[in-house]
Amino acid sequence: MGVSGSCCRVSDVQAGRGEPVIEVTAAAHPNLAFVKYWGRRDDLLNLPLNGSISVNLSGATTTTSVDFDDGLAADEVLLNGEPADSTTVGRVTAHLDRVRTMAQVVSRARVVSRNDFPADVGFASSASAFAALSLAATRAAGITLCERDLSVLARKGSGSACRSIPDGFVEWLPGRDDVSSYARSLAPCGHWDLRIVTVAPETAPKLVSSLDGHRAAHTSPFYAARLAEIEHVLGRVRASLVTRDFQSLALAVEREALSLHAVAATSVVAHVPWLSGILYIEPATVRLMLAVQHWRRDGLAVAFTLDAGPSIHLLCEAGSLGDVRAAVTQEMDGIPHQLYVSHPGRGAWLKNETGEAEAPPDQTCSQ
Ligand code: PMV
Repeated sequence: MGVSGSCCRVSDVQAGRGEPVIEVTAAAHPNLAFVKYWGRRDDLLNLPLNGSISVNLSGATTTTSVDFDDGLAADEVLLNGEPADSTTVGRVTAHLDRVRTMAQVVSRARVVSRNDFPADVGFASSASAFAALSLAATRAAGITLCERDLSVLARKGSGSACRSIPDGFVEWLPGRDDVSSYARSLAPCGHWDLRIVTVAPETAPKLVSSLDGHRAAHTSPFYAARLAEIEHVLGRVRASLVTRDFQSLALAVEREALSLHAVAATSVVAHVPWLSGILYIEPATVRLMLAVQHWRRDGLAVAFTLDAGPSIHLLCEAGSLGDVRAAVTQEMDGIPHQLYVSHPGRGAWLKNETGEAEAPPDQTCSQ
């Protein structure tokens, strides 16, 4: 959104109980963490054990329309043109219930959501999905939340979704409680002309979800060490972003991703007794991790980061994109994969009837 808006008050509610409003459409990008959220102190509220820093990925978008309709007996959810599975409907309904409570609306809703990117290519679709849903559903229910409160709401749908609400480079403050755990923009999209090359090798579905990874993190003997240095890592990444120091960012971001994967690999997933640890990476991932280190030694300013999956995200400045793409193409020759290029993207936004971006309201966030 890129602006703060006035925080919701009950008097902002346009709709009375169950009064239908209009269909509202919103969109959001997924985001990529430079410092990762890994492990929670509250599973229900999605409160993280550490702060995190991310960038919105312009190369992928979720667009979601919501309308509350008195005629519906239950929420309806269409995902990429198909009725969503029961788990997804349950998560969406739980999120709509949060909005209904805030807006004092009882009607069920019709939710139509579409991703312009395939599932399982390394974009955190739950982040863009819950960011777009939060914005569309609140507006359709007749309330306008400020950026901070919208981020708090999105976080309850999916933790990292709170980071897809503000613009550009974003920090999620872990906070002390529900209302103080939200994301805010560190710098706008245009601050640094970075490129993010996402390489998704074709692999079998991962064995352990990120949800189970979060839950298992504390079982790793290395988790306490990770948390002990996280403030330092956050400080270094923040400073590298502010000064646009690529070399410093590269080393901090790579080391941070390796730290998460060291924790995952030494975590115990209680309900999977045959699993020694969580390995999210695949041979093609390791191949590119090693290649990136060699390319950097040879003078190419590039870095990698990894989320809870086999995809690898390569960071570089815009001027190095051609060289990075060429190096990836050569390295991945004969290995089935998909490749997407993003630049820093805007935060969640509303769309008008013609599908064009609508300027966010210029409002000040009350405390
Ligand atoms: O928001 P979740 O529950 O999907 O967790 C995201 C976890 C990572 O992608 C690995 C890290 C992050 O900060 O995005």
